[in-house]
Amino acid sequence: MCYAIPGKVTAIDGKRVIVEYFGEKRPAIAMDCGVEAGEYVYAQGGIVVGKVPGDEALEILRIWEERFFDLKRLDVGMSAGSASPSGILEPILKKAESSGTLTKGEMLAVLGAEEGLDALYSSANRIRRERIDNACCVHGIIEFSNHCVNNCLYCGIRCGNKGICRYRMSGEQILDAVDEAVSKHGFKALVLQSGEDMAYSDEDLVYIVKRIRERHSILLFMSVGERSLDCYRRLYEAGAYGALLRFETSNAELYSKLRPGRKLEDRLSLIRGLKELGFVLATGFMFGLPGESRKDVVGNILLTKSLGPDMHSFGPFIPHPATPLSSSVGATLDDALKAIALTRLVDHEAKILVTTALETLSPEAKREGLLAGGNSLMIDMTPQRYRASYDLYPGKASSERIGDTIVSTISLLQSLGRAPTDLGL
Ligand code: 5AD
Ligand code: SF4
Repeated sequence: MCYAIPGKVTAIDGKRVIVEYFGEKRPAIAMDCGVEAGEYVYAQGGIVVGKVPGDEALEILRIWEERFFDLKRLDVGMSAGSASPSGILEPILKKAESSGTLTKGEMLAVLGAEEGLDALYSSANRIRRERIDNACCVHGIIEFSNHCVNNCLYCGIRCGNKGICRYRMSGEQILDAVDEAVSKHGFKALVLQSGEDMAYSDEDLVYIVKRIRERHSILLFMSVGERSLDCYRRLYEAGAYGALLRFETSNAELYSKLRPGRKLEDRLSLIRGLKELGFVLATGFMFGLPGESRKDVVGNILLTKSLGPDMHSFGPFIPHPATPLSSSVGATLDDALKAIALTRLVDHEAKILVTTALETLSPEAKREGLLAGGNSLMIDMTPQRYRASYDLYPGKASSERIGDTIVSTISLLQSLGRAPTDLGL
């Protein structure tokens, strides 16, 4: 990412290594670079992405040392939290903090709560700090095609929407965008996302991944929808070790209604297959979908946890005017913060992405999400001329220059005491 420091490899057990940042240990896997104890590396999402020459690493760490401990102190201070629980949430938060488990009834009570929300968010933030500390990661996302064979009722780039300008980046254009993200902006983890666009054959995608990995030491996530497990296996072998695929909703009936022709069980079996293949898995859902009950949201959170993701990716449904759900009511910021906090309460070590959809709910949403249990962010690295056309939901595209977004993201993270260390496995 654009916010990363090298760590020192202090122990090795096969491909498993321990990477240390100023004495803090994080486990990681060295996939394709052989490392030795004492060497310095960058790690992302628990994957060692590349080595750093010792003198260069020491210079970076020297610059960071003081700031590193300042950030930690800041996070400890901010997460100590003054809001103490009261009323109906009090026993629930105490139980969650001590055990990490809640009954479905208790989870429903959290989602339904109208009071004590500050205490809820503080509690989740405290758990985040105690369990996974102030590490964070910032991934870049490149949306390389907005063509899609599907017609999901909620989505602005569904094939039924004839009103958008479709684009499809060539392999060279994708490589250029990756070069810019990695070489110019320093990203160490990138997501390549598209609609389900079968104009790219499996071979095309594998070729693009190989070309990227020949040039760059990064953790590359594929977010290309439902392709065969064999295709994903080939992408993994080509060097894309991450996969982002949401199951969207745990309610099977609602799933097929909103995603015509598709079945939840097929989606879940693909997601489980990705995990078995060894992918660093990011998955999750949308919440606030029309026809969804609070019980479904509880089901979504528990289903995500049961899939054992390396990263939780969930976000609010935002009605798109050119879809059949245009007049539905979308999720609110409190719905979003409750979903983040509740996930943290029942999955203490979760790595929770504060997703871009949240940002459309309020200018403060990223900050609030990070203070309600979230710990990772994503920055849109799609070339400016295509951004507005990747129109999943309104308000998604920012016209801010990438450099400015990176600066404001880093300053947000630092204002909250978050350090550029890897989250580990
Ligand atoms: N609101 C919020 N998120 C949406 N997505 C698609 N349409 C919308 C919408 N209207 C999300 C889905 C999908 C991801 C790429 O974008 O969860 O998996
Ligand atoms: Fe296509 Fe994904 Fe949008 Fe569905 S949500 S229409 S699969 S891009």
